[in-house]
Amino acid sequence: MAFWNRRKQLESVASGIAHSALKPTLSWPHLLGLGVGGIIGTGIYTLTGVGAGLAGPGVILSFVIAGIVCVCAALAYAEMSTMMPVAGSAYTYSYVVLGELLAWIVGWSLILEYTVVCSAVAVGWSGYATGVLKAAELNIPDALLAGPHAGGLINVPAIIISLAVAGLLAIGTKESATVNLVLVFVKLIALGIFIALAAPAFDSGNFQPFMPYGWVSEVNGVPHGVMAAAAIIFFAFYGFDAVSTAAEETRNPSRDLKIGIIGSMLICTFIYMAVAAVALGGASYLDLANSPEPLAMVLRNLQHPFAATVIAGAAVIALPTVIMAFMYGQSRIFFVMARDGLLPQGLSTINPRTGSPVLMTLITGVIVAIIAGLLPLNEIAALANAGTLAAFIAVAVCMMVLRVKHPDFPRKFRSPVWWLVGPLAIVGCLYLFWNLPGITKKWFFIWNAAGLLIYLLVTRHQSALAKAERS
Ligand code: ALA
Repeated sequence: MAFWNRRKQLESVASGIAHSALKPTLSWPHLLGLGVGGIIGTGIYTLTGVGAGLAGPGVILSFVIAGIVCVCAALAYAEMSTMMPVAGSAYTYSYVVLGELLAWIVGWSLILEYTVVCSAVAVGWSGYATGVLKAAELNIPDALLAGPHAGGLINVPAIIISLAVAGLLAIGTKESATVNLVLVFVKLIALGIFIALAAPAFDSGNFQPFMPYGWVSEVNGVPHGVMAAAAIIFFAFYGFDAVSTAAEETRNPSRDLKIGIIGSMLICTFIYMAVAAVALGGASYLDLANSPEPLAMVLRNLQHPFAATVIAGAAVIALPTVIMAFMYGQSRIFFVMARDGLLPQGLSTINPRTGSPVLMTLITGVIVAIIAGLLPLNEIAALANAGTLAAFIAVAVCMMVLRVKHPDFPRKFRSPVWWLVGPLAIVGCLYLFWNLPGITKKWFFIWNAAGLLIYLLVTRHQSALAKAERS
Protein backbone atom coordinates (compact mmCIF):
# COMPACT_ATOMS: atom_id res chain seq x y z
CA MET A 1 0.00 0.00 0.00
CA ALA A 2 1.29 3.48 -0.84
CA PHE A 3 2.87 5.02 2.28
CA TRP A 4 0.52 7.99 2.38
CA ASN A 5 -2.47 5.68 2.26
CA ARG A 6 -1.45 3.33 5.10
CA ARG A 7 -4.48 2.84 7.31
CA LYS A 8 -5.33 1.46 10.70
CA GLN A 9 -7.98 -1.24 10.74
CA LEU A 10 -11.39 0.00 11.83
CA GLU A 11 -12.06 -3.21 13.76
CA SER A 12 -8.83 -3.07 15.74
CA VAL A 13 -9.20 0.64 16.56
CA ALA A 14 -12.82 0.12 17.60
CA SER A 15 -11.72 -2.54 20.07
CA GLY A 16 -8.37 -0.94 20.89
CA ILE A 17 -9.55 0.60 24.12
CA ALA A 18 -9.07 -2.75 25.85
CA HIS A 19 -5.32 -2.39 25.46
CA SER A 20 -4.98 1.25 26.46
CA ALA A 21 -2.30 2.32 28.91
CA LEU A 22 -4.45 5.22 30.11
CA LYS A 23 -6.58 4.48 33.18
CA PRO A 24 -10.41 4.58 32.79
CA THR A 25 -11.27 6.90 35.69
CA LEU A 26 -13.82 9.30 34.15
CA SER A 27 -17.60 9.18 33.90
CA TRP A 28 -20.22 11.37 32.17
CA PRO A 29 -20.34 14.18 34.76
CA HIS A 30 -16.57 14.55 34.32
CA LEU A 31 -16.96 14.61 30.54
CA LEU A 32 -19.84 17.09 30.67
CA GLY A 33 -17.60 19.16 32.94
CA LEU A 34 -14.68 18.75 30.55
CA GLY A 35 -16.94 19.78 27.64
CA VAL A 36 -18.56 22.82 29.26
CA GLY A 37 -15.21 23.62 30.87
CA GLY A 38 -13.59 23.55 27.44
CA ILE A 39 -16.32 25.47 25.63
CA ILE A 40 -17.21 28.43 27.85
CA GLY A 41 -14.17 30.66 28.04
CA THR A 42 -12.45 33.54 26.36
CA GLY A 43 -14.82 33.22 23.41
CA ILE A 44 -17.93 34.41 25.23
CA TYR A 45 -16.12 36.41 27.92
CA THR A 46 -13.86 38.43 25.60
CA LEU A 47 -14.24 37.68 21.89
CA THR A 48 -17.89 38.79 22.03
CA GLY A 49 -16.35 42.27 22.08
CA VAL A 50 -13.92 41.54 19.23
CA GLY A 51 -16.82 40.11 17.20
CA ALA A 52 -18.97 43.17 17.91
CA GLY A 53 -16.16 45.33 16.55
CA LEU A 54 -16.12 43.31 13.31
CA ALA A 55 -19.86 43.00 12.73
CA GLY A 56 -21.67 45.48 15.01
CA PRO A 57 -24.75 44.14 16.84
CA GLY A 58 -25.16 41.75 13.89
CA VAL A 59 -22.57 39.63 15.74
CA ILE A 60 -25.62 37.90 17.20
CA LEU A 61 -26.08 36.36 13.72
CA SER A 62 -22.42 35.35 13.77
CA PHE A 63 -23.17 33.40 16.97
CA VAL A 64 -26.08 31.64 15.26
CA ILE A 65 -24.00 30.72 12.18
CA ALA A 66 -20.97 29.49 14.14
CA GLY A 67 -23.33 27.59 16.48
CA ILE A 68 -25.05 25.75 13.61
CA VAL A 69 -21.71 24.72 12.10
CA CYS A 70 -20.52 23.47 15.50
CA VAL A 71 -23.71 21.52 16.24
CA CYS A 72 -23.23 19.65 12.93
CA ALA A 73 -19.58 19.01 13.75
CA ALA A 74 -20.50 17.87 17.29
CA LEU A 75 -22.94 15.30 15.88
CA ALA A 76 -20.21 13.93 13.62
CA TYR A 77 -17.78 13.87 16.58
CA ALA A 78 -20.29 12.03 18.75
CA GLU A 79 -20.78 9.36 16.09
CA MET A 80 -17.07 8.92 15.45
CA SER A 81 -15.94 8.98 19.05
CA THR A 82 -18.45 6.36 20.21
CA MET A 83 -17.50 4.19 17.23
CA MET A 84 -13.76 4.53 17.93
CA PRO A 85 -13.40 5.46 21.61
CA VAL A 86 -9.67 6.17 21.52
CA ALA A 87 -7.68 9.16 22.66
CA GLY A 88 -6.54 10.29 19.19
CA SER A 89 -9.86 11.93 18.28
CA ALA A 90 -9.95 13.43 14.74
CA TYR A 91 -6.41 12.23 14.13
CA THR A 92 -7.24 8.56 14.75
CA TYR A 93 -10.52 8.68 12.79
CA SER A 94 -8.53 10.08 9.86
CA TYR A 95 -5.90 7.35 10.24
CA VAL A 96 -8.61 4.72 9.82
CA VAL A 97 -10.58 6.38 7.06
CA LEU A 98 -8.34 8.76 5.09
CA GLY A 99 -4.86 7.25 5.40
CA GLU A 100 -1.62 8.12 7.19
CA LEU A 101 -0.69 11.32 5.36
CA LEU A 102 -4.01 13.06 5.97
CA ALA A 103 -4.06 11.72 9.53
CA TRP A 104 -0.67 13.28 10.10
CA ILE A 105 -1.87 16.61 8.72
CA VAL A 106 -4.95 16.49 10.96
CA GLY A 107 -2.82 15.57 13.99
CA TRP A 108 -0.37 18.32 13.16
CA SER A 109 -3.28 20.80 12.90
CA LEU A 110 -4.65 19.59 16.23
CA ILE A 111 -1.30 20.21 17.91
CA LEU A 112 -1.43 23.76 16.59
CA GLU A 113 -5.05 24.18 17.65
CA TYR A 114 -4.70 22.87 21.17
CA THR A 115 -1.54 24.85 21.87
CA VAL A 116 -2.76 28.12 20.43
CA VAL A 117 -6.20 27.89 22.06
CA CYS A 118 -4.47 27.74 25.44
CA SER A 119 -2.51 30.88 24.59
CA ALA A 120 -5.63 32.71 23.43
CA VAL A 121 -7.50 31.87 26.61
CA ALA A 122 -4.52 32.91 28.71
CA VAL A 123 -4.58 36.34 27.03
CA GLY A 124 -8.35 36.63 27.58
CA TRP A 125 -7.83 35.64 31.22
CA SER A 126 -5.17 38.30 31.54
CA GLY A 127 -7.68 40.99 30.43
CA TYR A 128 -9.96 40.16 33.37
CA ALA A 129 -7.08 39.57 35.80
CA THR A 130 -5.66 43.00 34.94
CA GLY A 131 -9.07 44.56 35.64
CA VAL A 132 -9.13 42.90 39.06
CA LEU A 133 -5.55 43.97 39.83
CA LYS A 134 -6.35 47.55 38.88
CA ALA A 135 -9.55 47.54 40.95
CA ALA A 136 -7.43 46.41 43.90
CA GLU A 137 -5.19 49.43 43.18
CA LEU A 138 -2.11 47.30 42.82
CA ASN A 139 0.50 49.32 41.03
CA ILE A 140 1.78 47.03 38.32
CA PRO A 141 3.42 48.73 35.30
CA ASP A 142 1.26 48.58 32.17
CA ALA A 143 4.27 47.31 30.18
CA LEU A 144 3.98 44.00 32.07
CA LEU A 145 0.24 43.58 31.56
CA ALA A 146 0.03 43.38 27.77
CA GLY A 147 2.05 42.19 24.80
CA PRO A 148 3.80 44.54 22.34
CA HIS A 149 0.67 44.75 20.12
CA ALA A 150 -1.38 46.36 22.90
CA GLY A 151 1.08 49.02 23.95
CA GLY A 152 2.89 46.85 26.51
CA LEU A 153 6.07 44.82 26.55
CA ILE A 154 5.05 41.39 27.70
CA ASN A 155 1.86 39.87 29.07
CA VAL A 156 3.09 38.52 32.40
CA PRO A 157 -0.31 37.41 33.79
CA ALA A 158 -0.90 35.33 30.63
CA ILE A 159 2.49 33.68 31.06
CA ILE A 160 1.90 32.92 34.73
CA ILE A 161 -1.49 31.29 34.17
CA SER A 162 -0.17 29.15 31.28
CA LEU A 163 2.63 27.75 33.41
CA ALA A 164 0.41 27.29 36.46
CA VAL A 165 -2.14 25.19 34.58
CA ALA A 166 0.59 23.07 32.99
CA GLY A 167 1.97 22.42 36.48
CA LEU A 168 -1.45 21.40 37.80
CA LEU A 169 -1.99 18.99 34.91
CA ALA A 170 1.42 17.47 35.36
CA ILE A 171 0.39 16.54 38.92
CA GLY A 172 -2.35 14.22 37.62
CA THR A 173 -5.63 13.78 35.74
CA LYS A 174 -8.00 12.88 38.52
CA GLU A 175 -7.46 15.89 40.73
CA SER A 176 -7.65 18.12 37.70
CA ALA A 177 -10.98 16.73 36.51
CA THR A 178 -12.55 17.30 39.93
CA VAL A 179 -11.18 20.84 40.28
CA ASN A 180 -12.46 21.44 36.77
CA LEU A 181 -16.02 20.44 37.74
CA VAL A 182 -16.14 22.97 40.59
CA LEU A 183 -14.78 25.77 38.41
CA VAL A 184 -17.30 25.02 35.66
CA PHE A 185 -20.05 25.81 38.17
CA VAL A 186 -18.36 29.10 39.07
CA LYS A 187 -18.31 30.05 35.39
CA LEU A 188 -21.95 29.14 34.86
CA ILE A 189 -23.12 31.00 37.94
CA ALA A 190 -21.20 34.12 36.84
CA LEU A 191 -22.86 34.08 33.42
CA GLY A 192 -26.22 33.56 35.14
CA ILE A 193 -25.63 36.65 37.31
CA PHE A 194 -24.62 38.61 34.20
CA ILE A 195 -27.84 37.70 32.39
CA ALA A 196 -30.01 38.43 35.44
CA LEU A 197 -28.53 41.89 36.02
CA ALA A 198 -28.04 43.07 32.44
CA ALA A 199 -31.33 41.79 30.97
CA PRO A 200 -33.59 44.35 32.74
CA ALA A 201 -31.47 47.18 31.26
CA PHE A 202 -31.84 45.86 27.71
CA ASP A 203 -31.93 48.83 25.31
CA SER A 204 -32.95 47.93 21.76
CA GLY A 205 -31.45 51.26 20.65
CA ASN A 206 -28.04 49.59 20.99
CA PHE A 207 -28.99 47.34 18.09
CA GLN A 208 -28.91 50.29 15.64
CA PRO A 209 -27.23 50.19 13.15
CA PHE A 210 -27.59 46.41 13.16
CA MET A 211 -25.03 45.42 10.54
CA PRO A 212 -22.71 48.40 9.97
CA TYR A 213 -20.29 46.25 7.96
CA GLY A 214 -22.82 44.02 6.17
CA TRP A 215 -22.19 40.30 5.69
CA VAL A 216 -18.75 40.38 4.11
CA SER A 217 -16.59 43.50 3.79
CA GLU A 218 -13.12 44.85 4.43
CA VAL A 219 -11.89 47.79 6.51
CA ASN A 220 -8.23 48.76 6.13
CA GLY A 221 -7.45 45.35 4.68
CA VAL A 222 -9.05 43.53 7.66
CA PRO A 223 -12.10 41.31 6.95
CA HIS A 224 -15.25 42.74 8.60
CA GLY A 225 -18.95 41.87 8.60
CA VAL A 226 -21.09 39.10 10.07
CA MET A 227 -19.13 36.29 8.40
CA ALA A 228 -15.70 37.58 9.50
CA ALA A 229 -17.09 37.82 13.03
CA ALA A 230 -18.52 34.28 12.74
CA ALA A 231 -15.05 33.02 11.76
CA ILE A 232 -13.71 34.47 15.04
CA ILE A 233 -16.74 33.74 17.26
CA PHE A 234 -16.42 30.10 16.17
CA PHE A 235 -13.71 30.06 18.85
CA ALA A 236 -16.39 30.37 21.53
CA PHE A 237 -18.13 27.14 20.52
CA TYR A 238 -15.53 24.47 20.36
CA GLY A 239 -14.07 22.57 23.25
CA PHE A 240 -16.51 19.67 23.08
CA ASP A 241 -13.90 17.98 20.87
CA ALA A 242 -11.60 17.84 23.92
CA VAL A 243 -14.13 15.38 25.37
CA SER A 244 -13.37 12.88 22.63
CA THR A 245 -9.67 12.91 23.49
CA ALA A 246 -10.59 11.56 26.94
CA ALA A 247 -12.27 8.53 25.36
CA GLU A 248 -9.74 5.99 26.58
CA GLU A 249 -10.08 7.21 30.14
CA THR A 250 -13.87 6.89 30.13
CA ARG A 251 -15.61 4.10 32.04
CA ASN A 252 -18.63 3.67 29.74
CA PRO A 253 -17.54 5.32 26.47
CA SER A 254 -20.71 4.98 24.41
CA ARG A 255 -23.00 6.60 26.97
CA ASP A 256 -20.52 9.02 28.52
CA LEU A 257 -19.10 10.43 25.27
CA LYS A 258 -22.55 11.03 23.79
CA ILE A 259 -23.73 12.92 26.86
CA GLY A 260 -20.41 14.76 27.17
CA ILE A 261 -20.22 16.01 23.59
CA ILE A 262 -23.82 16.78 22.66
CA GLY A 263 -24.88 17.81 26.16
CA SER A 264 -22.08 20.34 26.61
CA MET A 265 -22.66 21.77 23.13
CA LEU A 266 -26.39 22.30 23.73
CA ILE A 267 -25.94 23.82 27.21
CA CYS A 268 -23.37 26.29 25.91
CA THR A 269 -25.27 27.32 22.77
CA PHE A 270 -28.29 28.16 24.89
CA ILE A 271 -26.24 30.22 27.36
CA TYR A 272 -24.31 32.03 24.62
CA MET A 273 -27.42 33.28 22.86
CA ALA A 274 -28.66 34.77 26.12
CA VAL A 275 -25.32 36.33 27.11
CA ALA A 276 -24.64 37.81 23.67
CA ALA A 277 -28.13 39.29 23.33
CA VAL A 278 -28.02 40.80 26.80
CA ALA A 279 -24.46 42.17 26.36
CA LEU A 280 -25.38 43.83 23.05
CA GLY A 281 -28.51 45.29 24.61
CA GLY A 282 -26.52 46.58 27.57
CA ALA A 283 -23.80 48.62 25.83
CA SER A 284 -22.97 50.04 22.43
CA TYR A 285 -21.08 47.64 20.20
CA LEU A 286 -18.22 50.12 19.99
CA ASP A 287 -17.77 50.07 23.77
CA LEU A 288 -17.87 46.27 23.73
CA ALA A 289 -15.26 46.18 20.98
CA ASN A 290 -12.85 48.38 22.91
CA SER A 291 -12.94 46.55 26.22
CA PRO A 292 -10.53 43.75 27.20
CA GLU A 293 -13.20 42.60 29.71
CA PRO A 294 -16.51 43.35 27.94
CA LEU A 295 -18.91 41.56 30.30
CA ALA A 296 -17.51 43.29 33.38
CA MET A 297 -17.59 46.59 31.48
CA VAL A 298 -21.32 46.20 30.69
CA LEU A 299 -22.15 45.67 34.35
CA ARG A 300 -20.00 48.61 35.43
CA ASN A 301 -21.79 50.84 32.91
CA LEU A 302 -25.12 49.65 34.28
CA GLN A 303 -24.05 50.76 37.79
CA HIS A 304 -23.37 47.29 39.14
CA PRO A 305 -19.71 47.74 40.14
CA PHE A 306 -19.77 44.95 42.72
CA ALA A 307 -21.30 42.45 40.30
CA ALA A 308 -18.75 43.55 37.69
CA THR A 309 -15.99 42.59 40.10
CA VAL A 310 -17.71 39.27 40.83
CA ILE A 311 -17.90 38.47 37.08
CA ALA A 312 -14.27 39.44 36.57
CA GLY A 313 -13.29 37.39 39.63
CA ALA A 314 -15.23 34.39 38.32
CA ALA A 315 -13.51 34.71 34.94
CA VAL A 316 -10.15 34.85 36.69
CA ILE A 317 -10.92 31.77 38.75
CA ALA A 318 -12.67 29.75 36.06
CA LEU A 319 -11.22 30.55 32.61
CA PRO A 320 -8.18 28.39 33.42
CA THR A 321 -10.49 25.34 33.10
CA VAL A 322 -10.45 25.97 29.35
CA ILE A 323 -6.68 26.02 29.28
CA MET A 324 -6.77 22.84 31.31
CA ALA A 325 -9.15 21.06 28.94
CA PHE A 326 -7.05 21.92 25.90
CA MET A 327 -3.66 21.21 27.47
CA TYR A 328 -5.06 17.88 28.55
CA GLY A 329 -6.28 17.24 24.99
CA GLN A 330 -2.91 18.29 23.60
CA SER A 331 -0.94 15.86 25.70
CA ARG A 332 -3.33 13.03 24.73
CA ILE A 333 -3.07 13.74 21.01
CA PHE A 334 0.69 13.82 21.33
CA PHE A 335 0.63 10.59 23.32
CA VAL A 336 -1.39 8.78 20.66
CA MET A 337 0.69 10.09 17.76
CA ALA A 338 3.84 8.96 19.59
CA ARG A 339 2.26 5.55 20.24
CA ASP A 340 1.74 5.28 16.46
CA GLY A 341 5.40 6.14 15.90
CA LEU A 342 4.62 9.51 14.29
CA LEU A 343 6.15 11.60 17.10
CA PRO A 344 9.08 10.81 19.41
CA GLN A 345 8.04 8.26 22.07
CA GLY A 346 10.32 9.72 24.74
CA LEU A 347 8.35 12.95 24.90
CA SER A 348 5.06 11.32 25.74
CA THR A 349 6.16 8.80 28.37
CA ILE A 350 3.51 8.52 31.07
CA ASN A 351 4.81 9.13 34.55
CA PRO A 352 3.70 6.08 36.59
CA ARG A 353 3.13 8.14 39.74
CA THR A 354 0.91 10.86 38.25
CA GLY A 355 -0.54 8.88 35.33
CA SER A 356 0.11 11.81 32.99
CA PRO A 357 2.73 12.62 30.36
CA VAL A 358 4.68 15.08 32.50
CA LEU A 359 7.45 16.12 30.10
CA MET A 360 5.04 16.79 27.21
CA THR A 361 2.70 18.76 29.44
CA LEU A 362 5.50 20.98 30.67
CA ILE A 363 6.89 21.60 27.16
CA THR A 364 3.38 22.52 26.00
CA GLY A 365 3.06 24.89 28.96
CA VAL A 366 6.23 26.76 28.02
CA ILE A 367 5.27 27.15 24.35
CA VAL A 368 1.76 28.29 25.30
CA ALA A 369 3.27 30.84 27.69
CA ILE A 370 5.62 32.31 25.08
CA ILE A 371 2.84 32.79 22.51
CA ALA A 372 0.47 34.22 25.13
CA GLY A 373 3.11 36.60 26.43
CA LEU A 374 3.78 38.18 23.07
CA LEU A 375 0.89 37.93 20.58
CA PRO A 376 -2.52 39.64 20.25
CA LEU A 377 -5.71 37.76 21.17
CA ASN A 378 -7.54 38.11 17.86
CA GLU A 379 -4.61 36.75 15.85
CA ILE A 380 -4.02 33.81 18.19
CA ALA A 381 -7.72 32.93 18.28
CA ALA A 382 -7.98 33.08 14.48
CA LEU A 383 -5.05 30.66 14.12
CA ALA A 384 -6.61 28.29 16.65
CA ASN A 385 -9.82 28.42 14.62
CA ALA A 386 -7.97 27.48 11.42
CA GLY A 387 -6.59 24.30 13.04
CA THR A 388 -9.95 23.41 14.53
CA LEU A 389 -11.83 23.95 11.29
CA ALA A 390 -9.43 21.58 9.53
CA ALA A 391 -10.05 18.91 12.19
CA PHE A 392 -13.84 19.38 12.05
CA ILE A 393 -13.82 18.98 8.27
CA ALA A 394 -11.83 15.76 8.61
CA VAL A 395 -14.24 14.33 11.19
CA ALA A 396 -17.31 15.12 9.06
CA VAL A 397 -15.63 13.57 5.99
CA CYS A 398 -14.74 10.46 8.04
CA MET A 399 -18.32 10.11 9.24
CA MET A 400 -19.68 10.30 5.70
CA VAL A 401 -17.11 7.93 4.19
CA LEU A 402 -17.79 5.32 6.89
CA ARG A 403 -21.54 5.61 6.42
CA VAL A 404 -21.04 4.74 2.76
CA LYS A 405 -18.26 2.15 3.12
CA HIS A 406 -19.32 0.46 6.37
CA PRO A 407 -23.05 1.15 6.70
CA ASP A 408 -23.59 -1.85 8.99
CA PHE A 409 -20.64 -1.42 11.36
CA PRO A 410 -22.06 -1.10 14.91
CA ARG A 411 -22.56 2.52 15.93
CA LYS A 412 -23.48 3.43 19.51
CA PHE A 413 -24.62 6.85 18.33
CA ARG A 414 -25.91 7.69 14.87
CA SER A 415 -26.07 11.28 13.76
CA PRO A 416 -29.56 12.17 12.53
CA VAL A 417 -29.82 13.00 8.78
CA TRP A 418 -26.09 12.37 8.31
CA TRP A 419 -26.30 13.15 4.59
CA LEU A 420 -27.29 16.70 5.53
CA VAL A 421 -25.33 17.15 8.77
CA GLY A 422 -22.03 16.01 7.19
CA PRO A 423 -22.08 18.34 4.15
CA LEU A 424 -23.35 21.24 6.31
CA ALA A 425 -20.40 20.79 8.67
CA ILE A 426 -17.91 20.56 5.80
CA VAL A 427 -19.22 23.50 3.74
CA GLY A 428 -19.78 25.59 6.87
CA CYS A 429 -16.22 25.01 8.11
CA LEU A 430 -14.76 25.71 4.68
CA TYR A 431 -16.69 28.97 4.45
CA LEU A 432 -15.64 30.08 7.94
CA PHE A 433 -12.03 29.23 7.06
CA TRP A 434 -12.34 31.34 3.92
CA ASN A 435 -13.46 34.28 6.06
CA LEU A 436 -10.43 34.16 8.37
CA PRO A 437 -7.85 36.96 7.98
CA GLY A 438 -5.29 36.44 5.20
CA ILE A 439 -2.36 36.37 7.65
CA THR A 440 -4.02 33.53 9.59
CA LYS A 441 -4.46 31.44 6.47
CA LYS A 442 -0.83 32.12 5.57
CA TRP A 443 0.48 30.91 8.97
CA PHE A 444 -1.80 27.90 8.88
CA PHE A 445 -0.40 26.83 5.51
CA ILE A 446 3.19 27.50 6.61
CA TRP A 447 2.61 25.31 9.68
CA ASN A 448 1.17 22.51 7.57
CA ALA A 449 3.85 22.82 4.87
CA ALA A 450 6.44 22.33 7.63
CA GLY A 451 4.41 19.34 8.86
CA LEU A 452 4.27 17.86 5.37
CA LEU A 453 8.04 18.20 5.01
CA ILE A 454 8.65 16.50 8.36
CA TYR A 455 6.31 13.71 7.35
CA LEU A 456 7.98 13.12 3.99
CA LEU A 457 11.53 13.30 5.35
CA VAL A 458 11.21 11.55 8.71
CA THR A 459 7.85 10.45 10.02
CA ARG A 460 6.74 8.17 7.22
CA HIS A 461 9.74 5.94 7.89
CA GLN A 462 9.20 5.94 11.67
CA SER A 463 5.51 5.12 11.72
CA ALA A 464 4.54 1.92 13.52
CA LEU A 465 2.64 0.75 10.44
CA ALA A 466 5.72 1.36 8.26
CA LYS A 467 7.83 -0.69 10.65
CA ALA A 468 5.24 -3.47 10.63
CA GLU A 469 5.32 -3.47 6.82
CA ARG A 470 9.10 -3.79 6.82
CA SER A 471 9.25 -6.61 9.33
N1 ALA B 1 -14.43 27.77 23.38
C1 ALA B 1 -13.28 28.08 24.13
C2 ALA B 1 -13.29 29.49 24.61
O1 ALA B 1 -14.15 30.22 24.25
C3 ALA B 1 -12.04 27.76 23.35
O2 ALA B 1 -12.45 29.90 25.35
